Amino acid sequence: MSTPMIKLEHMSHAYTDENGKTVYAVKDISLEIQPGEFVAIIGTNGSGKSTLAKHFNVLLVPTEGTCEVCGLRTDDPQHVWDIRQQVGMVFQNPDNQIVAAVVEEDVAFGPENLGVPPEEIRQRVADALERVQMTIYAKHGPHLLSGGQKQRIAIAGILAMQSRCIVLDEPTAMLDPKGRQEVMETLHQLHREGITVILITHFMEEAVQADRVMVVHHGELKMDGTPRSVFTHVDELKQMGLDVPVPAELAVRLREKGVPLPEGIITKEELGDALCQ
Ligand SMILES: Nc1ncnc2c1ncn2[C@@H]1O[C@H](COP(=O)(O)OP(=O)(O)O)[C@@H](O)[C@H]1O
Ligand SMILES: [Mg+2]
Repeated sequence: MSTPMIKLEHMSHAYTDENGKTVYAVKDISLEIQPGEFVAIIGTNGSGKSTLAKHFNVLLVPTEGTCEVCGLRTDDPQHVWDIRQQVGMVFQNPDNQIVAAVVEEDVAFGPENLGVPPEEIRQRVADALERVQMTIYAKHGPHLLSGGQKQRIAIAGILAMQSRCIVLDEPTAMLDPKGRQEVMETLHQLHREGITVILITHFMEEAVQADRVMVVHHGELKMDGTPRSVFTHVDELKQMGLDVPVPAELAVRLREKGVPLPEGIITKEELGDALCQ
């Protein structure tokens, strides 16, 4: 067994509210994410997804329990920079993540801070831009790019750090459908290359594309399994205020009405095939 990319043991994160009361944003979560997995995290607004994800690159440390990244405990200050090199974060707003006036300089920012020699930086930047299919924009001003292109530049910046894991907190929320698709294609490509992808999303059709889906509700991990095992719990998900992929819900409702469909349908292709039988 290799070392888990992420390992949480009874991890909680509590805030003290204005009345001095302790409020748990994340409560007693234990989980492991292995290198190379593609995990989607879903949950309604305020369920604790962002708080959880911020522990993965030490923007927060647990108030109880432990978080280990690549076998390194995040509450040891000596590990902070090693962990941040291994795990990069992409946030929702594409405009808040650009630091330079030219795309290739933006992507070079991380390795420059690591003290990587200039010749190697040039190679890393070229490689990273190629992997997110943004090579032709290397000399462009990032502010002229679309939202989807900006998010791919943010991802390239993480690749240039040679990180092994990318955590994305609703990276497609502000994008149009084309931009969303570009970002998802990039994530699938990186997953095929062996990068660990952790995607927080409120788009169920994105979560369906992951290897594994985690459902967070009131700070707790309520479900953790394959998209098929999670999205067939249509009523439980709806009770938590979550959407369900439309084909999954249709299949359940049709079965309730007596249409003889197999269990476990979550995509429109599966629903179409089953209905044609
Ligand atoms: N800095 C903070 N101080 C106090 N409460 C916070 C803070 N950040 C988040 N919270 C609370 O923690 C809960 C989870 O928030 P968050 O992790 O942002 O959820 P999500 O990303 O799922 O929308 C919310 O109730 C939120 O109000
Ligand atoms: Mg959030």
